[in-house]
Amino acid sequence: MTRLLTRSFVLSSVLAASLAGAFPAAYADGKPHVVILATGGTIAGAGASVANSATYQAAKVPVDKLIAGVPELANVAEVRGEQVFQIASESFTNDNLLTLGKRVAALARQPDVDGIVITHGTDTLEETAYFLNLVLKTDKPVVVVGSMRPGTAMSADGMLNLYNAVAVAAAKDAAGKGVLVTMNDEIHTGRDVSKSVNIKTEAFKSPWGPLGMIVEGKTYWFRAPAKRHTTGTEFDIDKLDKLAPVDIAYGYGNATPTAYRAFAEGGARAVIHAGTGNGSVSSAVVPALQELRSKGVQIIRSSRVVGGGFVLRNAEQPDDKYDWVVAHDLNPQKARILASVALTKTQDSKELQRMFMEY
Ligand code: DGL
Repeated sequence: MTRLLTRSFVLSSVLAASLAGAFPAAYADGKPHVVILATGGTIAGAGASVANSATYQAAKVPVDKLIAGVPELANVAEVRGEQVFQIASESFTNDNLLTLGKRVAALARQPDVDGIVITHGTDTLEETAYFLNLVLKTDKPVVVVGSMRPGTAMSADGMLNLYNAVAVAAAKDAAGKGVLVTMNDEIHTGRDVSKSVNIKTEAFKSPWGPLGMIVEGKTYWFRAPAKRHTTGTEFDIDKLDKLAPVDIAYGYGNATPTAYRAFAEGGARAVIHAGTGNGSVSSAVVPALQELRSKGVQIIRSSRVVGGGFVLRNAEQPDDKYDWVVAHDLNPQKARILASVALTKTQDSKELQRMFMEY
């Protein structure tokens, strides 16, 4: 009975502090301090019935209810929440990325914050996680998490995903690994992970595999990130007030240059070509891309074929001759994130190519 009372006291003091926007002064056992930044998505979703695992409204449940829904969070960390947005992530904008990134950076600088969790819709979770991996100068664990089913559904995955995310954010051995994504018991690097299935709980995959697993609150690591991130980055969220507009055009049979020209007319500073195969470009499109390049628009070849390969420079297209960039192993949506950050620092295509090989 005492244990139950203690826990309910602890929980109520955490929730009270959470509403006050700070950690409670005295906290019995000195657990790590983790802040949960909520942005919306299915993890905050609600469906009409328990049978609705895929039909629901995203971005409904507020952060304090998400925390109250998993009382076991108090066993792994002292947790408090902030509601940054309440949106479905397909509607995320570059300004949302900047607002979220600046809040994470400010919290990471606070000595009383040990780790940060971001709850997020799964549709663009991979973009936000890569963006933060590029611009945050902290080695504290930052973990992005979502769910494929709303909390109202049978076998909802959000509770355990959130518990796992807080456990990773509270884990000392998660420090210095860059921005992480925990979904379905796996720990992925924000750089590599993508949503690869649209309605299964095992939806997130990394072409080079997860970094590790989180099981019953304990982390198990099997590899480390190979590319530059966070404390090793040359980008800085605190010096970013605008991201460069970058758009993506798909390659396919019978393709035309219309989309690429329209994006450039709309102000795109780079167009990501989501090419067939090894980032191939239709002969009907090449002249338009050469024309756009001559007008200062960067052309970045990615591939619609994702997972386990990379676009090789000067293989299917003479990139040196055309002054184009290859996205290496980054899929089109990841390439857009890197380009939108990189173009705030350089307009030089050789510098861009360096960045695509290093991040
Ligand atoms: N509207 C989608 C989003 O917010 C729901 C998908 C999800 O969060 O799982 O990303």
